[in-house]
Amino acid sequence: MRQSSLVVVANRLPVDDSVAPDGACEWRRSPGGLVGALHPILQQTPATWVGWTGDAGDAPTLPDVDGVRMHAVALSAEDIRDHYEGFANATLWPLYHDSVEHPTYHRRWWEAYQRVNQRFADAAAETAEPGALVWVQDYHLQLVPGMLRALRPDLLIGFFLHVPFPPPELFMQLPRRAELLLGMLGADLVGFQRVQAAHNFAQLAAKVLKVPATDRRIAVEGRVVRVGAFPVSIDMAEMEALSARPDVAARAVQLRADLGDPQHVILSVDRMDYTKGIEHRLQAFSELIAEGHIKVHDTVMVQVAVPSRERVAQYQILRDRVEREVGRINGEFGRVGEPAIHYLNQSFDRSELAALYRVADIMAVTPLRDGMNLVAKEYVAARVDDTGALLLSEFAGAAAEFQQAYLVNPHDLDGLKLTLLHALDASPADITDRMRSMRAHLRVHDIRAWARSYLTALDRSGALAARLTP
Ligand code: F6P
Repeated sequence: MRQSSLVVVANRLPVDDSVAPDGACEWRRSPGGLVGALHPILQQTPATWVGWTGDAGDAPTLPDVDGVRMHAVALSAEDIRDHYEGFANATLWPLYHDSVEHPTYHRRWWEAYQRVNQRFADAAAETAEPGALVWVQDYHLQLVPGMLRALRPDLLIGFFLHVPFPPPELFMQLPRRAELLLGMLGADLVGFQRVQAAHNFAQLAAKVLKVPATDRRIAVEGRVVRVGAFPVSIDMAEMEALSARPDVAARAVQLRADLGDPQHVILSVDRMDYTKGIEHRLQAFSELIAEGHIKVHDTVMVQVAVPSRERVAQYQILRDRVEREVGRINGEFGRVGEPAIHYLNQSFDRSELAALYRVADIMAVTPLRDGMNLVAKEYVAARVDDTGALLLSEFAGAAAEFQQAYLVNPHDLDGLKLTLLHALDASPADITDRMRSMRAHLRVHDIRAWARSYLTALDRSGALAARLTP
């Protein structure tokens, strides 16, 4: 077993398998999300990524991808059902997102969560060289830092939560709340997207575990665990370069023509998830049409809803509801060749996404709760000519950084409608001012800055962060 000085542990491996022309299975880096976020760092450091392929069954032996070693963890169909679809996505996910859907608690799911976390911890312990830095990601693996510390006290362990961390009123519902907190506290540094999340965590540690805790430091089991906010970001330069490509620019022109060359294009790109506020947004748009504020001929909406977690009941119910509503709106307000909403329940590759961002005069990112929302950041990065309005929920982590966006409370339908109209009517100068300032912020706070700040805080010797190019 080859060992590495940097090990990333995440639920998913950053690869997709695709079939090459000769029939062989190829593993390629998959785009977007957490994977996109960490990739630039891993390329600059000898590293191993421990994760799951997305399929049930034995763990395949994988080739290195772009110089990064891939270590697959096996999950059985039962593990996927009870760990990924169960405890991670039907207990923790809704609980951490303001309980906008009811979290479900099953003891069997908790057992699977422990079992699968132990498997990831074992794999990390195997692949980490003495004194290595291991960076554990997200809510699927909250027990891993504690399990790993028990196996390998020599390691420097980081944990970063990509999703929101809830206030005590919600977290206290969790039957196994103390174990989850202790699991995270196995790390040397626990990172969150927002300062409020770090505060919630410290309050909970004090309340549940009765340990001395501030928003920056928690004393537990004779160690001091550091806590902080490190808002994740994107590779701005990559998205800018993609968006500026002549073929992407040409595709954007084509897309606009295909949409009937309307005056305004409003775009939303979400995973099909009940946290994303898709139904609230559809309702706001439909009311604006019904009240005559928006004409379907002038203003089209494009809703991309990428299929997600399709075996989880709440996601199936949401998809049915969204599709019924899109059908109703198009049936009522569309005309032949002119639907009110262009609805796409599919994934897009990065260049098609960049072309869509270029077409969008308004990008509506209005989740009910979101850890960060990297789509909002990608849109800003793609607007290389400083145009485009970002309509952004106050409840997305990105709102803490993008105060120049058109900020909305997505629960307030009248406020959402008014702000959308305001963005549609805004002067080009106002739009450019806002976009320029968001782009300036993003340029400084890109993915490399995020990695550097987290890794510098974790590894105070600075050795690892120094390997990251500016
Ligand atoms: O936002 C949390 C997250 O796990 C991201 O890291 C990921 O890109 C997204 O949700 C999709 O999740 P899944 O692995 O369930 O498809």
